[in-house]
Amino acid sequence: MIPVFEPKIGAEEISRVVEALERGEISGSFGEAIPDFESQFAEYCDCRHAVAVSSGTTALHLAVAAAEIGDGDEVLVSASTNIATALAVHHQGAVTVPVDSEEQTWNLDLEKLESLITPRTRAIIPVHLFGHPVDMDRLRVIADRHDLLIIEDAAEAHGATCRGRKVGSFGDMACFSFYANKVITTGEGGMVTTNDDALAARLRLLRNLAFTKPRFRHELAGFNFRMTGYQAGMGLAQLDKIENIIAQKRQVAATYREFLSGTAGIQFPAEAAWARNVYWMVCVVVGTEFGISRDHLADTLRNDGIDTRTFFCPMNQQPCLRLPESGPPSCPVADRLWESGLYLPSTNDLPTETIAWICERVQAAGQQQRRAAA
Ligand SMILES: Cc1ncc(COP(=O)(O)O)c(C=O)c1O
Repeated sequence: MIPVFEPKIGAEEISRVVEALERGEISGSFGEAIPDFESQFAEYCDCRHAVAVSSGTTALHLAVAAAEIGDGDEVLVSASTNIATALAVHHQGAVTVPVDSEEQTWNLDLEKLESLITPRTRAIIPVHLFGHPVDMDRLRVIADRHDLLIIEDAAEAHGATCRGRKVGSFGDMACFSFYANKVITTGEGGMVTTNDDALAARLRLLRNLAFTKPRFRHELAGFNFRMTGYQAGMGLAQLDKIENIIAQKRQVAATYREFLSGTAGIQFPAEAAWARNVYWMVCVVVGTEFGISRDHLADTLRNDGIDTRTFFCPMNQQPCLRLPESGPPSCPVADRLWESGLYLPSTNDLPTETIAWICERVQAAGQQQRRAAA
């Protein structure tokens, strides 16, 4: 089976992990690897601070907690996202207000955002979905007009840029994931970036059980969201390679686009003129003109030995969340993406011949049905 994604771990990652282990950087935040990874990641994002944590999920939870968002507050969240984005809001006792997607990049629709703002709205969590940045310059204008915080969910978008500036540097805080299939990985892991000195101090405090003086007497209810030193060692090796990784990802996406161009009913996301999409995954929407449904296509590809994944079930449809009492806002575009979106195999060094074969199988699946219907 051709997997959706296969992480590449090289000799550099292994030796950095072993070096950290040999220095005893097993737990706690002392030693070299964590501060080095934090400062190099902050520099990569053109940010003053980066705080390493145990996952993208805990990065988001920590950021929402550091913003002191809680009971009764409302947070606008991209409807089309991983549940982790909304869980950060939920676990702090706040209400998730899903914002529908737009048709071109599939990111949250900035035209629909302002009508959802109420006196209880505290923050916006825009998700740079599948590696395409949100238009952060436009979003900042809206957020400032209503005095709202921005917490970027950049879990899928390390290195993506908006008018030449990296994601992670626009929001009051931004959250990254280093899960195995992310742009760079530490196995499990995450990072919160910020340019705000006070927020950085609060993030560090809350990450480590909010220890103050005297030790073991706690003014604040913190978390253990610490990363290990040897994970940070792996992150340093990955960070050295990030621009090559992004170039490979962009190449894989360009090759798919070339082979599938002109295939009726297959839509790729638009790359906005002001954006660098890092193509976390190669994602397509299967429209009615394709001839068969997304699920039928996924089954056909699985029979050919090609694995795929569906897009996210949107937040307006999640039974586990605290949604607005008046009912979740309607999100027709995010609903349609959930029903018709598919990620294709997206390993960074996927050979051109393999991509050609996958595209040939995609086209054959649609053509067979269209011929049968004719
Ligand atoms: C948009 C988004 N946010 C948050 C997360 C959570 O990250 P993690 O798996 O590292 O907890 C993920 C992915 O896993 C994601 O895709």
